Amino acid sequence: MSKEISPLQKLRYEYKPKLPKALRGTNVSVSFGAAGTPDGDGEKIKELFPNTFGQKLVTITEGGDAVPNSPIKVGVVLSGGQAPGGHNVIAGLYDALKNANPANKLYGFLKGPAGIMKGNYVELDDEIIDSHRNTGGFSMIMSGRDKITTDEDLSNCKKNFDALDLDGCVIIGGDDSNTNAAVLAEYLRAVGSKTCIIGVPKTIDGDMKNEYIETSFGFDTACKTYSELIGNICRDATSAVKYWHFVRLMGRAASHVTLECGFQTHPNITLVSEEVSAKNTTLGEIVDYIADVIVKRAEQGKNYGVLLVPEGLPEFISDIKTTIDEISAILGDKEKELAAMSETAEKIAFVSGLLSEGGKKVYASLPASAQQVLLTRDSHGNVPLSQVETERLLIDLVGNKIKQLKAQGKTNAKFAAQNHFFGYEGRCAMPTNFDADYCYSLGAAAAVLVRAGLTGYTVNVLNMTKDSDEWVAGGVPVTMMLCIETRKGKDTPVIKKALVDLDGKPFKYFAANRDEWALNDCYTFPGAIQYYGPSEVCDITSKTLALEKN
Ligand code: FBP
Repeated sequence: MSKEISPLQKLRYEYKPKLPKALRGTNVSVSFGAAGTPDGDGEKIKELFPNTFGQKLVTITEGGDAVPNSPIKVGVVLSGGQAPGGHNVIAGLYDALKNANPANKLYGFLKGPAGIMKGNYVELDDEIIDSHRNTGGFSMIMSGRDKITTDEDLSNCKKNFDALDLDGCVIIGGDDSNTNAAVLAEYLRAVGSKTCIIGVPKTIDGDMKNEYIETSFGFDTACKTYSELIGNICRDATSAVKYWHFVRLMGRAASHVTLECGFQTHPNITLVSEEVSAKNTTLGEIVDYIADVIVKRAEQGKNYGVLLVPEGLPEFISDIKTTIDEISAILGDKEKELAAMSETAEKIAFVSGLLSEGGKKVYASLPASAQQVLLTRDSHGNVPLSQVETERLLIDLVGNKIKQLKAQGKTNAKFAAQNHFFGYEGRCAMPTNFDADYCYSLGAAAAVLVRAGLTGYTVNVLNMTKDSDEWVAGGVPVTMMLCIETRKGKDTPVIKKALVDLDGKPFKYFAANRDEWALNDCYTFPGAIQYYGPSEVCDITSKTLALEKN
Protein backbone atom coordinates (compact mmCIF):
# COMPACT_ATOMS: atom_id res chain seq x y z
CA MET A 1 0.00 0.00 0.00
CA SER A 2 1.52 3.31 -1.02
CA LYS A 3 1.16 6.03 1.61
CA GLU A 4 0.73 9.56 0.26
CA ILE A 5 2.99 12.17 1.80
CA SER A 6 2.77 15.94 1.50
CA PRO A 7 5.35 17.86 -0.59
CA LEU A 8 6.70 19.51 2.59
CA GLN A 9 6.94 16.16 4.36
CA LYS A 10 8.98 14.84 1.44
CA LEU A 11 11.37 17.79 1.61
CA ARG A 12 11.66 17.55 5.38
CA TYR A 13 12.66 13.87 5.16
CA GLU A 14 15.67 15.12 3.22
CA TYR A 15 16.60 18.03 5.52
CA LYS A 16 20.06 17.52 7.06
CA PRO A 17 20.05 18.95 10.58
CA LYS A 18 22.99 21.06 11.70
CA LEU A 19 25.29 19.62 14.34
CA PRO A 20 27.84 21.14 16.71
CA LYS A 21 31.31 20.85 15.18
CA ALA A 22 32.47 18.18 17.63
CA LEU A 23 29.64 15.85 16.63
CA ARG A 24 30.21 15.96 12.89
CA GLY A 25 32.78 13.13 12.90
CA THR A 26 32.96 9.84 14.75
CA ASN A 27 36.38 10.46 16.29
CA VAL A 28 35.19 12.20 19.43
CA SER A 29 36.26 12.27 23.04
CA VAL A 30 34.78 13.45 26.29
CA SER A 31 36.46 15.82 28.69
CA PHE A 32 35.46 16.19 32.32
CA GLY A 33 34.76 19.45 34.12
CA ALA A 34 33.87 20.16 37.71
CA ALA A 35 32.14 17.60 39.92
CA GLY A 36 29.01 19.30 41.04
CA THR A 37 26.83 19.04 44.08
CA PRO A 38 23.26 20.20 44.00
CA ASP A 39 22.29 23.37 45.85
CA GLY A 40 21.03 22.79 49.36
CA ASP A 41 20.07 19.12 49.50
CA GLY A 42 23.50 17.65 48.63
CA GLU A 43 23.83 15.37 51.66
CA LYS A 44 20.38 13.88 51.23
CA ILE A 45 20.91 13.34 47.47
CA LYS A 46 24.27 11.70 48.20
CA GLU A 47 22.56 9.28 50.58
CA LEU A 48 19.93 8.40 47.98
CA PHE A 49 22.39 8.13 45.07
CA PRO A 50 25.61 6.69 46.56
CA ASN A 51 26.70 5.17 43.24
CA THR A 52 26.06 8.05 40.86
CA PHE A 53 26.51 11.11 43.07
CA GLY A 54 29.49 13.43 42.50
CA GLN A 55 30.01 12.70 38.79
CA LYS A 56 31.58 15.44 36.67
CA LEU A 57 30.18 17.66 33.95
CA VAL A 58 31.09 16.34 30.51
CA THR A 59 31.94 18.15 27.27
CA ILE A 60 32.19 16.34 23.95
CA THR A 61 35.22 17.40 21.92
CA GLU A 62 36.66 16.55 18.52
CA GLY A 63 39.53 14.06 18.22
CA GLY A 64 41.55 13.39 21.36
CA ASP A 65 41.36 10.11 23.25
CA ALA A 66 38.48 8.77 21.25
CA VAL A 67 35.57 7.05 22.97
CA PRO A 68 35.46 3.28 22.27
CA ASN A 69 34.05 2.03 18.99
CA SER A 70 33.30 -1.59 19.80
CA PRO A 71 29.76 -2.66 18.83
CA ILE A 72 27.06 -1.68 21.30
CA LYS A 73 23.32 -2.16 21.75
CA VAL A 74 21.20 0.75 22.89
CA GLY A 75 17.52 1.24 23.77
CA VAL A 76 15.49 4.43 23.50
CA VAL A 77 12.14 5.44 24.97
CA LEU A 78 9.85 8.48 24.69
CA SER A 79 8.23 9.46 27.98
CA GLY A 80 5.39 11.86 28.80
CA GLY A 81 3.73 14.48 26.61
CA GLN A 82 4.62 14.83 22.95
CA ALA A 83 7.11 17.55 21.97
CA PRO A 84 8.23 18.42 18.42
CA GLY A 85 11.66 16.99 17.69
CA GLY A 86 11.41 13.65 19.50
CA HIS A 87 11.85 11.73 16.24
CA ASN A 88 15.00 13.72 15.51
CA VAL A 89 16.54 12.77 18.85
CA ILE A 90 16.07 9.14 17.81
CA ALA A 91 17.35 9.81 14.27
CA GLY A 92 20.44 11.61 15.65
CA LEU A 93 21.08 8.73 18.04
CA TYR A 94 20.60 6.13 15.31
CA ASP A 95 22.85 7.88 12.76
CA ALA A 96 25.59 8.50 15.32
CA LEU A 97 25.52 4.86 16.45
CA LYS A 98 25.54 3.47 12.89
CA ASN A 99 28.26 5.92 11.76
CA ALA A 100 30.43 4.94 14.71
CA ASN A 101 29.99 1.23 14.01
CA PRO A 102 27.47 -0.26 11.56
CA ALA A 103 27.12 -3.26 13.87
CA ASN A 104 25.60 -1.06 16.59
CA LYS A 105 21.91 -1.70 17.24
CA LEU A 106 19.12 0.60 18.44
CA TYR A 107 15.87 -0.68 19.97
CA GLY A 108 12.84 1.52 20.53
CA PHE A 109 10.76 0.64 23.61
CA LEU A 110 7.07 1.05 22.80
CA LYS A 111 4.49 3.32 24.51
CA GLY A 112 6.78 4.91 27.06
CA PRO A 113 8.41 3.46 30.18
CA ALA A 114 5.77 0.68 30.23
CA GLY A 115 7.55 -0.68 27.13
CA ILE A 116 10.76 -1.08 29.14
CA MET A 117 9.00 -2.72 32.07
CA LYS A 118 7.05 -5.10 29.82
CA GLY A 119 9.86 -5.70 27.35
CA ASN A 120 7.89 -4.37 24.35
CA TYR A 121 10.25 -3.04 21.72
CA VAL A 122 11.09 -2.85 18.05
CA GLU A 123 14.52 -2.83 16.44
CA LEU A 124 14.90 0.47 14.60
CA ASP A 125 16.17 0.33 11.03
CA ASP A 126 16.76 2.70 8.09
CA GLU A 127 13.19 2.41 6.85
CA ILE A 128 11.62 3.39 10.18
CA ILE A 129 14.11 6.19 10.80
CA ASP A 130 14.00 7.65 7.26
CA SER A 131 10.22 7.87 7.32
CA HIS A 132 10.30 9.92 10.55
CA ARG A 133 13.17 12.35 9.99
CA ASN A 134 12.27 15.96 10.88
CA THR A 135 8.63 15.03 11.50
CA GLY A 136 6.54 15.94 14.53
CA GLY A 137 4.94 13.65 17.06
CA PHE A 138 6.09 10.54 18.86
CA SER A 139 4.31 8.07 16.59
CA MET A 140 7.51 6.20 15.68
CA ILE A 141 7.54 4.32 18.99
CA MET A 142 4.74 6.15 20.85
CA SER A 143 4.85 7.53 24.38
CA GLY A 144 3.31 6.91 27.80
CA ARG A 145 3.25 8.38 31.28
CA ASP A 146 3.99 5.26 33.35
CA LYS A 147 6.50 5.77 36.10
CA ILE A 148 9.23 3.32 37.08
CA THR A 149 8.81 3.37 40.85
CA THR A 150 8.72 0.09 42.73
CA ASP A 151 11.54 -2.41 43.21
CA GLU A 152 9.60 -4.73 40.95
CA ASP A 153 9.49 -2.05 38.20
CA LEU A 154 13.24 -1.52 38.50
CA SER A 155 14.04 -5.21 38.39
CA ASN A 156 11.72 -5.69 35.38
CA CYS A 157 13.68 -2.98 33.57
CA LYS A 158 16.94 -4.75 34.37
CA LYS A 159 15.55 -8.09 33.26
CA ASN A 160 14.51 -6.67 29.90
CA PHE A 161 17.77 -4.74 29.45
CA ASP A 162 19.70 -7.95 30.18
CA ALA A 163 17.56 -9.91 27.71
CA LEU A 164 18.60 -7.47 24.98
CA ASP A 165 22.15 -7.21 26.34
CA LEU A 166 21.83 -3.42 26.32
CA ASP A 167 24.87 -1.22 26.88
CA GLY A 168 22.69 1.84 27.30
CA CYS A 169 19.17 3.23 27.27
CA VAL A 170 18.23 6.80 26.37
CA ILE A 171 15.17 8.20 28.16
CA ILE A 172 13.62 11.17 26.38
CA GLY A 173 11.44 13.04 28.86
CA GLY A 174 10.82 16.02 31.11
CA ASP A 175 11.82 16.74 34.70
CA ASP A 176 9.99 13.71 36.15
CA SER A 177 11.33 11.34 33.48
CA ASN A 178 14.91 12.58 33.88
CA THR A 179 14.57 12.10 37.65
CA ASN A 180 13.33 8.59 36.87
CA ALA A 181 16.40 8.15 34.65
CA ALA A 182 18.62 9.04 37.64
CA VAL A 183 16.81 6.54 39.88
CA LEU A 184 17.15 3.80 37.26
CA ALA A 185 20.83 4.62 36.64
CA GLU A 186 21.52 4.41 40.39
CA TYR A 187 19.71 1.09 40.70
CA LEU A 188 21.52 -0.44 37.72
CA ARG A 189 24.90 0.69 39.09
CA ALA A 190 24.05 -0.72 42.50
CA VAL A 191 23.20 -4.16 41.10
CA GLY A 192 26.27 -4.22 38.83
CA SER A 193 24.41 -3.89 35.53
CA LYS A 194 26.35 -2.65 32.49
CA THR A 195 23.36 -0.70 31.06
CA CYS A 196 23.99 3.07 31.15
CA ILE A 197 21.07 5.48 31.40
CA ILE A 198 21.10 8.84 29.63
CA GLY A 199 18.24 11.39 29.82
CA VAL A 200 17.22 13.96 27.18
CA PRO A 201 15.46 17.24 28.17
CA LYS A 202 12.04 17.28 26.51
CA THR A 203 8.87 19.28 27.14
CA ILE A 204 6.96 21.96 25.29
CA ASP A 205 6.40 23.58 28.71
CA GLY A 206 9.97 24.95 28.63
CA ASP A 207 10.36 24.36 32.36
CA MET A 208 13.24 21.91 32.27
CA LYS A 209 16.05 24.42 32.10
CA ASN A 210 18.80 25.61 34.39
CA GLU A 211 22.41 26.74 34.14
CA TYR A 212 23.28 23.49 32.30
CA ILE A 213 20.21 23.17 30.08
CA GLU A 214 19.37 26.23 27.98
CA THR A 215 15.94 25.05 26.88
CA SER A 216 13.92 21.86 26.63
CA PHE A 217 13.21 20.70 23.11
CA GLY A 218 9.77 21.26 21.60
CA PHE A 219 9.20 24.62 23.31
CA ASP A 220 10.36 26.56 20.25
CA THR A 221 8.06 24.78 17.78
CA ALA A 222 5.02 24.64 20.05
CA CYS A 223 5.24 28.37 20.84
CA LYS A 224 5.70 29.28 17.17
CA THR A 225 2.69 27.14 16.24
CA TYR A 226 0.48 28.77 18.87
CA SER A 227 1.84 32.23 18.02
CA GLU A 228 0.85 31.86 14.38
CA LEU A 229 -2.74 31.14 15.49
CA ILE A 230 -2.76 33.95 18.08
CA GLY A 231 -1.46 36.38 15.44
CA ASN A 232 -4.34 35.30 13.19
CA ILE A 233 -6.77 35.88 16.05
CA CYS A 234 -5.32 39.36 16.68
CA ARG A 235 -5.94 40.13 13.00
CA ASP A 236 -9.49 38.79 13.27
CA ALA A 237 -10.07 40.92 16.37
CA THR A 238 -9.02 44.11 14.59
CA SER A 239 -11.05 43.15 11.52
CA ALA A 240 -14.36 42.21 13.16
CA VAL A 241 -13.90 44.73 16.01
CA LYS A 242 -16.53 43.00 18.14
CA TYR A 243 -14.91 40.17 20.11
CA TRP A 244 -12.61 39.68 23.02
CA HIS A 245 -10.68 36.44 22.48
CA PHE A 246 -9.62 34.54 25.61
CA VAL A 247 -6.88 32.06 24.70
CA ARG A 248 -5.64 29.43 27.14
CA LEU A 249 -2.21 28.01 26.39
CA MET A 250 -0.72 24.71 27.42
CA GLY A 251 1.99 24.45 30.04
CA ARG A 252 1.20 22.43 33.14
CA ALA A 253 2.85 24.72 35.70
CA ALA A 254 5.18 27.39 34.33
CA SER A 255 3.96 30.28 32.14
CA HIS A 256 6.91 30.18 29.70
CA VAL A 257 4.71 29.21 26.73
CA THR A 258 2.24 32.00 27.43
CA LEU A 259 4.98 34.58 27.92
CA GLU A 260 6.79 33.53 24.72
CA CYS A 261 3.52 33.73 22.74
CA GLY A 262 3.02 37.17 24.30
CA PHE A 263 6.44 38.24 22.97
CA GLN A 264 5.59 36.93 19.53
CA THR A 265 2.17 38.61 19.23
CA HIS A 266 1.79 41.45 21.81
CA PRO A 267 -1.77 40.68 22.94
CA ASN A 268 -3.62 43.15 25.19
CA ILE A 269 -3.46 40.99 28.31
CA THR A 270 -1.02 38.23 29.19
CA LEU A 271 -1.51 36.62 32.58
CA VAL A 272 1.60 35.18 34.19
CA SER A 273 0.91 32.59 36.91
CA GLU A 274 4.21 33.18 38.71
CA GLU A 275 3.37 36.87 39.17
CA VAL A 276 -0.13 36.00 40.39
CA SER A 277 1.45 33.71 42.97
CA ALA A 278 4.16 36.17 44.04
CA LYS A 279 1.60 38.93 44.57
CA ASN A 280 -0.93 36.59 46.20
CA THR A 281 -3.49 37.80 43.68
CA THR A 282 -6.98 36.39 44.16
CA LEU A 283 -9.31 35.28 41.39
CA GLY A 284 -11.43 38.39 42.06
CA GLU A 285 -8.44 40.68 41.58
CA ILE A 286 -7.55 39.00 38.27
CA VAL A 287 -11.11 39.58 37.08
CA ASP A 288 -10.94 43.25 38.16
CA TYR A 289 -7.69 43.75 36.23
CA ILE A 290 -9.12 42.24 33.04
CA ALA A 291 -12.34 44.26 33.37
CA ASP A 292 -10.33 47.44 33.86
CA VAL A 293 -8.46 46.92 30.57
CA ILE A 294 -11.74 46.12 28.78
CA VAL A 295 -13.34 49.31 30.11
CA LYS A 296 -10.33 51.48 29.19
CA ARG A 297 -10.21 50.08 25.67
CA ALA A 298 -13.97 50.57 25.32
CA GLU A 299 -13.45 54.26 26.19
CA GLN A 300 -11.25 54.44 23.06
CA GLY A 301 -14.02 52.76 21.05
CA LYS A 302 -12.26 49.38 21.07
CA ASN A 303 -14.65 46.66 22.14
CA TYR A 304 -12.24 43.93 21.18
CA GLY A 305 -8.99 42.47 22.33
CA VAL A 306 -6.92 39.36 22.96
CA LEU A 307 -6.02 37.79 26.30
CA LEU A 308 -3.61 34.93 26.97
CA VAL A 309 -3.98 32.76 30.04
CA PRO A 310 -1.60 29.97 31.04
CA GLU A 311 -3.06 26.54 31.67
CA GLY A 312 -1.33 26.31 35.05
CA LEU A 313 -2.97 29.48 36.43
CA PRO A 314 -5.48 27.81 38.83
CA GLU A 315 -2.66 26.22 40.81
CA PHE A 316 -1.02 29.64 41.32
CA ILE A 317 -4.09 31.49 42.60
CA SER A 318 -3.63 31.30 46.35
CA ASP A 319 -7.20 30.33 47.33
CA ILE A 320 -7.47 27.68 44.58
CA LYS A 321 -3.97 26.30 45.30
CA THR A 322 -4.83 25.80 48.99
CA THR A 323 -7.97 23.95 47.97
CA ILE A 324 -6.03 21.71 45.53
CA ASP A 325 -3.56 20.85 48.31
CA GLU A 326 -6.41 20.01 50.66
CA ILE A 327 -7.97 17.78 47.99
CA SER A 328 -4.62 16.02 47.37
CA ALA A 329 -4.38 15.18 51.07
CA ILE A 330 -7.96 13.84 51.07
CA LEU A 331 -7.30 11.77 47.93
CA GLY A 332 -4.29 10.22 49.70
CA ASP A 333 -6.08 9.58 53.02
CA LYS A 334 -9.38 8.34 51.62
CA GLU A 335 -8.14 6.39 48.61
CA LYS A 336 -10.13 3.24 49.47
CA GLU A 337 -13.40 5.04 50.22
CA LEU A 338 -13.18 7.02 46.97
CA ALA A 339 -12.30 3.93 44.93
CA ALA A 340 -15.51 2.30 46.16
CA MET A 341 -17.65 5.16 44.75
CA SER A 342 -18.74 4.86 41.14
CA GLU A 343 -20.49 8.21 40.68
CA THR A 344 -18.45 11.41 40.18
CA ALA A 345 -21.14 13.48 41.91
CA GLU A 346 -20.82 11.24 44.97
CA LYS A 347 -17.03 11.73 45.02
CA ILE A 348 -17.40 15.50 44.66
CA ALA A 349 -19.88 15.64 47.56
CA PHE A 350 -17.67 13.35 49.69
CA VAL A 351 -14.50 15.40 49.13
CA SER A 352 -16.37 18.65 49.53
CA GLY A 353 -17.64 17.50 52.94
CA LEU A 354 -14.06 17.02 54.14
CA LEU A 355 -12.70 20.39 53.00
CA SER A 356 -12.11 23.33 55.30
CA GLU A 357 -14.73 26.10 55.24
CA GLY A 358 -12.56 28.21 52.89
CA GLY A 359 -11.82 25.23 50.66
CA LYS A 360 -15.49 24.32 50.46
CA LYS A 361 -16.36 27.83 49.31
CA VAL A 362 -13.70 27.92 46.60
CA TYR A 363 -14.54 24.38 45.40
CA ALA A 364 -18.25 25.20 45.23
CA SER A 365 -17.54 28.33 43.13
CA LEU A 366 -15.99 26.22 40.34
CA PRO A 367 -17.97 24.69 37.48
CA ALA A 368 -18.74 20.95 37.86
CA SER A 369 -16.28 20.04 35.08
CA ALA A 370 -13.42 21.74 36.97
CA GLN A 371 -14.50 20.15 40.27
CA GLN A 372 -14.22 16.76 38.60
CA VAL A 373 -10.76 17.46 37.12
CA LEU A 374 -9.45 18.58 40.52
CA LEU A 375 -10.19 15.06 41.83
CA THR A 376 -7.89 13.49 39.22
CA ARG A 377 -4.12 12.97 39.43
CA ASP A 378 -1.71 11.49 36.85
CA SER A 379 0.95 8.88 37.70
CA HIS A 380 3.28 11.68 38.85
CA GLY A 381 0.64 13.19 41.17
CA ASN A 382 -0.15 16.17 38.87
CA VAL A 383 -3.65 17.61 38.36
CA PRO A 384 -4.47 17.31 34.62
CA LEU A 385 -4.96 21.07 34.31
CA SER A 386 -5.17 20.89 30.51
CA GLN A 387 -8.77 19.80 31.15
CA VAL A 388 -9.76 22.83 33.27
CA GLU A 389 -11.41 25.46 31.08
CA THR A 390 -9.97 28.50 32.87
CA GLU A 391 -10.61 30.72 29.84
CA ARG A 392 -14.35 30.00 30.00
CA LEU A 393 -14.41 30.57 33.74
CA LEU A 394 -12.73 33.96 33.23
CA ILE A 395 -15.14 34.89 30.44
CA ASP A 396 -18.10 34.19 32.75
CA LEU A 397 -16.63 36.09 35.69
CA VAL A 398 -15.48 39.06 33.58
CA GLY A 399 -18.86 39.14 31.80
CA ASN A 400 -20.61 39.41 35.18
CA LYS A 401 -18.23 42.14 36.30
CA ILE A 402 -18.84 44.21 33.15
CA LYS A 403 -22.61 43.81 33.64
CA GLN A 404 -22.24 45.08 37.20
CA LEU A 405 -20.18 48.09 36.08
CA LYS A 406 -22.75 48.86 33.39
CA ALA A 407 -25.59 48.66 35.90
CA GLN A 408 -23.67 51.14 38.05
CA GLY A 409 -23.34 53.44 35.03
CA LYS A 410 -19.54 53.10 35.10
CA THR A 411 -19.01 51.82 31.56
CA ASN A 412 -20.58 51.41 28.16
CA ALA A 413 -18.25 48.59 27.21
CA LYS A 414 -19.64 45.84 25.01
CA PHE A 415 -18.24 42.47 25.97
CA ALA A 416 -18.68 39.54 23.60
CA ALA A 417 -16.08 36.82 24.00
CA GLN A 418 -14.71 33.81 22.15
CA ASN A 419 -12.74 31.12 23.93
CA HIS A 420 -9.83 29.04 22.61
CA PHE A 421 -7.46 26.45 23.99
CA PHE A 422 -4.18 25.84 22.16
CA GLY A 423 -2.44 22.81 23.54
CA TYR A 424 -2.46 19.53 21.69
CA GLU A 425 -2.42 21.46 18.39
CA GLY A 426 1.22 22.44 18.96
CA ARG A 427 2.76 19.36 20.52
CA CYS A 428 3.17 17.36 17.32
CA ALA A 429 3.93 20.12 14.80
CA MET A 430 6.80 19.57 12.38
CA PRO A 431 9.83 20.77 14.34
CA THR A 432 11.24 24.18 13.46
CA ASN A 433 14.79 24.17 12.12
CA PHE A 434 15.90 25.09 15.62
CA ASP A 435 14.21 22.07 17.23
CA ALA A 436 15.17 19.77 14.33
CA ASP A 437 18.86 20.73 14.69
CA TYR A 438 18.84 20.81 18.50
CA CYS A 439 17.14 17.42 18.81
CA TYR A 440 19.36 15.73 16.24
CA SER A 441 22.37 17.08 18.17
CA LEU A 442 20.93 15.81 21.47
CA GLY A 443 20.55 12.33 19.96
CA ALA A 444 24.07 12.35 18.50
CA ALA A 445 25.49 13.53 21.85
CA ALA A 446 23.55 10.83 23.73
CA ALA A 447 25.22 8.21 21.50
CA VAL A 448 28.66 9.52 22.52
CA LEU A 449 27.79 9.45 26.24
CA VAL A 450 26.62 5.82 25.97
CA ARG A 451 29.73 4.88 23.96
CA ALA A 452 31.80 6.49 26.71
CA GLY A 453 30.05 4.28 29.29
CA LEU A 454 28.57 7.22 31.21
CA THR A 455 25.39 6.79 33.23
CA GLY A 456 23.02 9.05 35.17
CA TYR A 457 23.55 12.01 32.82
CA THR A 458 21.18 14.34 31.00
CA VAL A 459 22.57 15.28 27.62
CA ASN A 460 22.93 19.02 26.93
CA VAL A 461 23.76 21.48 24.14
CA LEU A 462 24.98 24.96 25.09
CA ASN A 463 25.57 28.25 23.21
CA MET A 464 22.44 27.80 21.15
CA THR A 465 21.83 31.45 20.35
CA LYS A 466 25.07 31.27 18.32
CA ASP A 467 25.75 29.55 15.03
CA SER A 468 25.75 25.73 15.30
CA ASP A 469 29.54 25.80 14.72
CA GLU A 470 29.76 27.22 18.24
CA TRP A 471 27.26 24.85 19.89
CA VAL A 472 28.84 22.74 22.61
CA ALA A 473 27.37 19.33 23.46
CA GLY A 474 27.95 17.26 26.56
CA GLY A 475 26.24 15.94 29.65
CA VAL A 476 25.25 17.04 33.12
CA PRO A 477 24.98 14.50 35.98
CA VAL A 478 21.28 14.33 36.86
CA THR A 479 22.14 14.28 40.57
CA MET A 480 23.57 17.79 40.12
CA MET A 481 20.09 19.05 39.23
CA LEU A 482 18.17 17.29 41.99
CA CYS A 483 16.58 18.71 45.09
CA ILE A 484 14.31 17.18 47.71
CA GLU A 485 10.56 17.81 47.77
CA THR A 486 8.01 16.25 50.08
CA ARG A 487 5.57 14.27 47.97
CA LYS A 488 2.85 12.19 49.63
CA GLY A 489 4.62 12.85 52.94
CA LYS A 490 7.91 11.35 51.68
CA ASP A 491 11.24 13.02 50.88
CA THR A 492 11.45 12.64 47.12
CA PRO A 493 14.30 13.64 44.78
CA VAL A 494 13.08 15.82 41.89
CA ILE A 495 14.50 18.10 39.22
CA LYS A 496 13.01 21.46 40.12
CA LYS A 497 10.67 22.86 37.48
CA ALA A 498 12.04 26.19 36.24
CA LEU A 499 9.20 28.67 36.65
CA VAL A 500 9.20 32.15 35.10
CA ASP A 501 11.78 34.20 37.01
CA LEU A 502 10.19 37.55 37.84
CA ASP A 503 13.68 39.08 38.08
CA GLY A 504 14.75 37.55 34.78
CA LYS A 505 15.12 39.45 31.51
CA PRO A 506 12.12 37.91 29.72
CA PHE A 507 9.64 38.89 32.43
CA LYS A 508 11.17 42.35 32.81
CA TYR A 509 10.86 42.95 29.08
CA PHE A 510 7.20 41.94 29.28
CA ALA A 511 6.54 44.12 32.34
CA ALA A 512 8.09 47.13 30.60
CA ASN A 513 5.76 46.73 27.60
CA ARG A 514 2.48 45.35 28.89
CA ASP A 515 0.70 48.67 29.56
CA GLU A 516 1.33 49.83 26.05
CA TRP A 517 0.22 46.45 24.61
CA ALA A 518 -2.94 46.59 26.78
CA LEU A 519 -4.36 49.83 25.44
CA ASN A 520 -2.89 50.19 21.98
CA ASP A 521 -3.10 47.70 19.14
CA CYS A 522 0.55 46.66 19.04
CA TYR A 523 -0.18 43.19 17.69
CA THR A 524 2.56 41.43 15.73
CA PHE A 525 1.94 38.66 13.24
CA PRO A 526 4.59 35.94 13.23
CA GLY A 527 2.88 33.89 10.52
CA ALA A 528 3.48 30.21 9.88
CA ILE A 529 6.75 28.49 10.75
CA GLN A 530 9.16 28.81 7.83
CA TYR A 531 11.55 25.97 7.07
CA TYR A 532 13.17 27.32 3.88
CA GLY A 533 14.30 30.85 3.16
CA PRO A 534 16.39 33.53 4.85
CA SER A 535 18.05 32.39 8.05
CA GLU A 536 16.71 35.37 10.05
CA VAL A 537 13.23 33.98 9.41
CA CYS A 538 13.90 30.23 9.48
CA ASP A 539 16.53 29.69 12.15
CA ILE A 540 15.50 32.25 14.74
CA THR A 541 15.44 31.04 18.37
CA SER A 542 12.63 31.76 20.80
CA LYS A 543 12.52 35.30 22.15
CA THR A 544 12.76 33.85 25.66
CA LEU A 545 16.10 32.18 24.89
CA ALA A 546 17.35 35.28 23.06
CA LEU A 547 16.49 37.52 26.03
CA GLU A 548 17.96 35.10 28.56
CA LYS A 549 21.20 34.91 26.58
CA ASN A 550 21.21 38.57 25.54
P1 FBP B 1 5.37 16.82 29.61
O1 FBP B 1 5.69 17.58 30.85
O2 FBP B 1 5.31 15.36 29.81
O3 FBP B 1 6.28 17.21 28.49
O4 FBP B 1 3.91 17.21 29.12
C1 FBP B 1 3.55 18.52 28.97
C2 FBP B 1 2.09 18.70 28.67
O5 FBP B 1 1.88 18.96 27.31
C3 FBP B 1 1.53 19.82 29.54
O6 FBP B 1 1.72 21.07 28.93
C4 FBP B 1 0.10 19.42 29.69
O7 FBP B 1 -0.45 19.92 30.87
C5 FBP B 1 0.17 17.92 29.74
O8 FBP B 1 1.32 17.56 29.01
C6 FBP B 1 -1.04 17.25 29.17
O9 FBP B 1 -0.95 15.90 29.46
P2 FBP B 1 -1.66 14.77 28.61
O10 FBP B 1 -0.89 14.64 27.35
O11 FBP B 1 -1.49 13.55 29.46
O12 FBP B 1 -3.06 15.19 28.39
